[in-house]
Amino acid sequence: MKIAFIGDIVGRAGRLAIKKHLKELREEYQIDFVIANYENASHGFGLTRKNCEELLGYGIDMMSGGNHSFDKKEILGMFDEYPLIRPLNYPKDTVGSGIFKTQILGIDVAILNLMGYYTMPMVDNPFSMIRDEVTELRDEGYRHIILDFHAESSAEKNIVFRMLKDDVSSILGTHTHIGTDDLTIDSGCCYVTDVGLTGCRDGVIGMQSDAPILNSLNGAKKHFDIDEKCATILQMIIFELDDNGRCVDAKKIKIYGEKRVITNAWKEDEL
Ligand SMILES: [Fe+2]
Repeated sequence: MKIAFIGDIVGRAGRLAIKKHLKELREEYQIDFVIANYENASHGFGLTRKNCEELLGYGIDMMSGGNHSFDKKEILGMFDEYPLIRPLNYPKDTVGSGIFKTQILGIDVAILNLMGYYTMPMVDNPFSMIRDEVTELRDEGYRHIILDFHAESSAEKNIVFRMLKDDVSSILGTHTHIGTDDLTIDSGCCYVTDVGLTGCRDGVIGMQSDAPILNSLNGAKKHFDIDEKCATILQMIIFELDDNGRCVDAKKIKIYGEKRVITNAWKEDEL
């Protein structure tokens, strides 16, 4: 099966880039299922019902979140209605789920969302929690296990990769908005520290640069905004899993406006 993963969709520019390119990418690469991160999709903070329906209408099949999952309060009533998850390690009484179980091409697939510790809201231990959850899923018979690890720290993402690479199909990092060039297949696990944002590429992590520059110079605490018009980027990982849930191929597609740059994963397994 071929699965596509889009990192943080930031604001209207990100949504429009998905609208413009996703349908064509789905057909061209024969993608069976598309996952995306929604937590910045509505003007940088959270997800509205309207934008959720819009993104699902563009060809996204399910979406995961992060530290901004609950910024728009209407999401509290949306988890039962739409294919949305939020990080698994929020306190146990938090609304929504951290796991999405589905079937793709008749095969059971589990998609998980986890949040790191460093600079993040208070959450339960991501490392022991994901280890225990993956063990439980494998005991249930799941072999196709996909993780969106939403974290600031590259080291935390590396830790989860080294800890779980034999047991999960892929670990895709999100949150920093800056894509890293370490897309790798190791022990049948597809890993990248951060997929990178889909949205404005000429600001500061998808936001208009004025506020972050001023805030950094004089601590002004100016409100972050997103440019109405900007140069865009779409960033997507496409990975292929065999019947045992092991990754056999992966690539990163970046679309700068109209221009595509494609990078194949480093295959540690072929050494
Ligand atoms: Fe985030």
